[in-house]
Amino acid sequence: MEKIIIGKDGDVILRELMDADLEKLAIYANNEKVSINLRDGFPKPYTIENAKSFKKMIDSQTPKTFFAIEYQNDYVGNISLSPGTDVYRKSAEIGYFIGEPFWNKGIATKAVNLISEWGFNQLDIVRIYTGVFEYNQASQRVLEKCGFVKEAVFKKSICKDNKIFDEIRFAKIKE
Ligand SMILES: CC(C)(COP(=O)(O)OP(=O)(O)OC[C@H]1O[C@@H](n2cnc3c(N)ncnc32)[C@H](O)[C@@H]1OP(=O)(O)O)[C@@H](O)C(=O)NCCC(=O)NCCS
Repeated sequence: MEKIIIGKDGDVILRELMDADLEKLAIYANNEKVSINLRDGFPKPYTIENAKSFKKMIDSQTPKTFFAIEYQNDYVGNISLSPGTDVYRKSAEIGYFIGEPFWNKGIATKAVNLISEWGFNQLDIVRIYTGVFEYNQASQRVLEKCGFVKEAVFKKSICKDNKIFDEIRFAKIKE
């Protein structure tokens, strides 16, 4: 079956998640250094069953807004845009993770740029935003590199592993 590709920048491709990715997804997602930066809804431990249910959930989505990140023809992570509802319906929250073996190769930067361009063109949105935990310097750097603006610090809004942290809010507006 032909893979649906939504963006490509050199050796980084955003495409639909395939069954063949799920084993790697479960390995890369089952990592404390990944989960510590995400909401507690992200399964921990992350099993192959979690990966299968995740794919089932995203396969039932319309429109599809969760994608796999491919680097040099290998699955390396996920990225998504979650559109809001009600008065927030013209905004979407961006989320992403890259498997640790592939960090610091510029992959997230390319992926965030690609999905932002796709989102502003294909979804009826004018704003893409996210909240980053204060200790996640790498993600803050990625967003800055992609032209996201630091809009606010939500003081002590995060409770992760029973410790309290600030959340840094970033957003990019459609030009
Ligand atoms: C955040 C994450 C997506 C970054 O992916 P990546 O592919 O390594 O990102 P890139 O290589 O495009 O860019 C990383 C940047 O952060 C910088 N960086 C990495 N670790 C850093 C640290 N501890 N302190 C400061 N900067 C750091 C890198 O130097 C690079 O910046 P540069 O290009 O100016 O040198 C990845 O680390 C990850 O998946 N983390 C766990 C999940 C997560 O945090 N998701 C986002 C939640 S908001």
